[in-house]
Amino acid sequence: MTIHATPTSALAQELAAHTGRFTDKSFDWNAFPSNAGFDELARAQMRYIGAGGSPKVGDSSTLKPDNFTLSLIYKEPGKYAACHSHEIEESFLIIEGVLTVGWEKDGEVVEVRLGPKDMILNAREIGHGFRNDGVTPVLMSISVDVGKPLPPVYHYHPKEHPSELARSFGAAPGKTLPFDRNGEHPLQKLMARYVVRHNELPTIWEDAGFTRKVYVGPGGIEHDTCRKEMLGIPSRVGVKPYSRDVEEAFLVLEGSLTVGWEENGEHVETELGPRDLVKTPAGRRHWFRNNSAGPATVWSVIGSATAGEIAYRAA
Ligand SMILES: [Fe+2]
Repeated sequence: MTIHATPTSALAQELAAHTGRFTDKSFDWNAFPSNAGFDELARAQMRYIGAGGSPKVGDSSTLKPDNFTLSLIYKEPGKYAACHSHEIEESFLIIEGVLTVGWEKDGEVVEVRLGPKDMILNAREIGHGFRNDGVTPVLMSISVDVGKPLPPVYHYHPKEHPSELARSFGAAPGKTLPFDRNGEHPLQKLMARYVVRHNELPTIWEDAGFTRKVYVGPGGIEHDTCRKEMLGIPSRVGVKPYSRDVEEAFLVLEGSLTVGWEENGEHVETELGPRDLVKTPAGRRHWFRNNSAGPATVWSVIGSATAGEIAYRAA
């Protein structure tokens, strides 16, 4: 029997090259050299777009970043990430579990607990760390809002500070405050502007028949960095092709989504399942449709704050 390879077009190959499949990828337990030798800091990273805060920028299984990186981070109960800062914004979107995130300034820390579909945008130059105080592992999606971030600057690493101080992100006993949107402390006030709870965000019903929750962008955290939205797409709903002047990534959280590209009258498409991703480059006409029986939940990252609103048209 002869098996003939199916001929594929250049456009189909390009779409395949912009797709990251959960089952094709691996979690890397050695992504952060600064954690080496500290079991309490253990975490695993799965890179989809760029390297994030990891120095592993040469990973050929990772999509090239333009304006943001995207990865998954896995953290087991009892482990933490030492307090550090970046020159640029970085978001944590919780997918599973409950994560405690702390922001530190002058030895005081505000801690917030985030559950599934909650997000924090870590402000630039703000010391932040995280810890899993729960009983189940945490899985989250991290995006850094620049293609090639500088290495993190550590503020309270167990290399240089007592383990208990590092675990509390730099807060001595009695110096930790809870997250409080009505709190008087300047750090509570600052953090309140950067924490998004899924259940507090308005649900926007598009005329095309799906929902959007804007995490970063008009109506959400209004900021000058990348836009971030969660889409809810009912069964059999889809939109006509549209394009943006920056790249757009779709990471499926629940259900399945078919993403298509169009160029010179040619159409190609691919179906994504949970934790699969497509990164569509700037200018490429693309569309999506939920061909499954159940709804799809999709995390979308868009490469600029000024990307215009799309007038979605039902397909
Ligand atoms: Fe960070």
